[in-house]
Amino acid sequence: MYFHATSLALAALITTVHSHAAILAAVGDKGQSQGFLVDPEIARNCTTISPCQQDATIIRDSEISQNIVNACGRTELNGNIDIGEQTENELAAGRMATVTKGSMLAVTIHQVNADGAGPFECDMDETSNAVTTFTPLKVSNNVPGTFGLSQAKEQDFVINVQMPDNFNCIGASTGNICTVRCRNNAVAGPFGGCFAVQQTDGTGRTNASAAAVGTSQTLEGISAQILQNQKDLPAAIAANQAAGAAGGNEGASAISGACLIQYHLIEASIDMKLTSP
Ligand SMILES: *[C@@H]1O[C@H](CO)[C@@H](O)[C@H](O)[C@H]1NC(C)=O
Ligand SMILES: *[C@@H]1O[C@H](CO)[C@@H](O)[C@H](O)[C@H]1NC(C)=O
Repeated sequence: MYFHATSLALAALITTVHSHAAILAAVGDKGQSQGFLVDPEIARNCTTISPCQQDATIIRDSEISQNIVNACGRTELNGNIDIGEQTENELAAGRMATVTKGSMLAVTIHQVNADGAGPFECDMDETSNAVTTFTPLKVSNNVPGTFGLSQAKEQDFVINVQMPDNFNCIGASTGNICTVRCRNNAVAGPFGGCFAVQQTDGTGRTNASAAAVGTSQTLEGISAQILQNQKDLPAAIAANQAAGAAGGNEGASAISGACLIQYHLIEASIDMKLTSP
């Protein structure tokens, strides 16, 4: 019974999701960030699955807890967004909005089609890549829509995201980066994205010792994650082997590999149901 329920939960992944919003820019006090794995070369004047939806981002809590993706989700084109890697890439490219306590970000969200609408919720990880519970941020001038749906398409909206009055970014190689995440509440999504910001009025990371690392999880959380990881490991190994055989994109293979294995799990579960007395 438990097995069957698990398979049903995973079945959502098999459905091809056509993702419909991308963060084109986030302007801070100075400088400008862009959504992780957003490709400036992708056309914004169509609603087609390819190319116009390919770098939009899907961020689902269930995929995060299954270790299929990180807290910033995935794109159709490149799969899992490795937050640490993308943050270092953005720093190296000089694409970085700076923020201060209480400052406002102007975030441009491109709505590809109906379910990339608002409202968007934004939250923040002060460590950049180490917490599971993000801090909620205040959003104003939100993208119009209800339950992530509206008739708008191929349109850019600028929302305002307010940094808290008190925070301290400690992430990335510079020790002063936060990750900001924005996503809508579409049932087919949530769609949105993440970007990095650099704080200029915090103390940043001041203590470099391993012993001073303050992030921690609860015993309950760790135990639940261990069970999930053990369940997912065979699919993950198969996906890694498939990626090696295909010489392809590791992140995308991990997701399609997981879908394939889960498809077999569902078949097995249906068989079990059919053959059980
Ligand atoms: C859509 O945009 C692409 C590049 O961004 C451009 O090459 C193409 O001509 C545009 N198509 C239309 C119909 O405007
Ligand atoms: C750094 O943190 C460690 C562990 O909490 C502590 O023992 C050490 O004194 C701290 N060092 C500084 C310079 O604050």
